Amino acid sequence: MGDESFTTLDFLKQHIELGITTVDHADIYGGYSCETLFGEGLKLEPSLRDKIEIVTKCDIKLTCGDPDRKINHYDTSKAHILASVDNSLSRLGVENIDVLLIHRPDFLMDADEVAEAFATLKQAGKVTHFGVSNFTPSQFALLESRVADGLVTNQVEINPLNFSVTEDGSLDQLQMKRIRPMAWSCLAGGRLFTEESEQVQRVKAVLEELAEELGGVSIDQVVYAWVNMLPCGALPIVGSGKIERVKSVVEAMSLALTREQWYRVWVASKGHGVP
Ligand SMILES: NC(=O)c1ccc[n+]([C@@H]2O[C@H](COP(=O)([O-])OP(=O)(O)OC[C@H]3O[C@@H](n4cnc5c(N)ncnc54)[C@H](OP(=O)(O)O)[C@@H]3O)[C@@H](O)[C@H]2O)c1
Repeated sequence: MGDESFTTLDFLKQHIELGITTVDHADIYGGYSCETLFGEGLKLEPSLRDKIEIVTKCDIKLTCGDPDRKINHYDTSKAHILASVDNSLSRLGVENIDVLLIHRPDFLMDADEVAEAFATLKQAGKVTHFGVSNFTPSQFALLESRVADGLVTNQVEINPLNFSVTEDGSLDQLQMKRIRPMAWSCLAGGRLFTEESEQVQRVKAVLEELAEELGGVSIDQVVYAWVNMLPCGALPIVGSGKIERVKSVVEAMSLALTREQWYRVWVASKGHGVP
């Protein structure tokens, strides 16, 4: 019970006070250490378990997780999914995971086998809901066609530097099905603040203009308002380790951009006007 677990507990409680109750994990985060760290914090106040929703992921196998692995790769076999969930439950110190995601598309995925693993986990009470991450629309449709209760989300990258999911049909598919995506790296993992590329400089300049127009907010708040404007109802995952920045994201949820303001960011990112 080191200082770190107190910090984790504190950070978790601050989020709950702000109304942020969903925590996004993956077995591999921190080289398989994040779930343990979080579990140690939660163990200090176990009643908090009922106030939060735990999302975690499986399927990526990192070499650091097993000395016998020669390369990082994917594994959506039933045996690996079941073993991975047992490991996550034990590291988190909880009886149940609210949402389990397949972390990345596995080119060897047998949808029937994944569906069987999901059914086994559901029946055992180990996982309540299932989803995916970084799946293309066809990969999503394939797995969804075999999973009895369907999929609850596709966790995808959404930020002003990357329009893949707005262009490949992912967000259209989710809007059609009224399934809300979880949005990762809304700030491009911090690249919006550090990268010196022409694209980032163009986007940053527009974000700064919009921040002024919106009454002196911060540029990260503009980005969250921009993501929030997407009609698919994206749920942003906040990547900051600073509670003040997390608070500012909550405030940003009530900011409204005009359509023209939204497209100014698009145009800046693409480097050309709309067709
Ligand atoms: N499913 C997937 O494949 C996948 C992939 C990547 C991530 N994710 C999930 O998505 C979460 C968020 O992703 P992310 O961490 O890439 O999110 P992000 O919010 O795009 O980036 C977070 C980074 O931006 C920095 N930052 C935030 N505000 C800043 C500011 N005003 N000025 C300078 N730097 C600032 C943060 O630093 P501070 O901590 O100092 O604020 C942090 O290093 C992850 O934690 C993970 O749960 C999922």
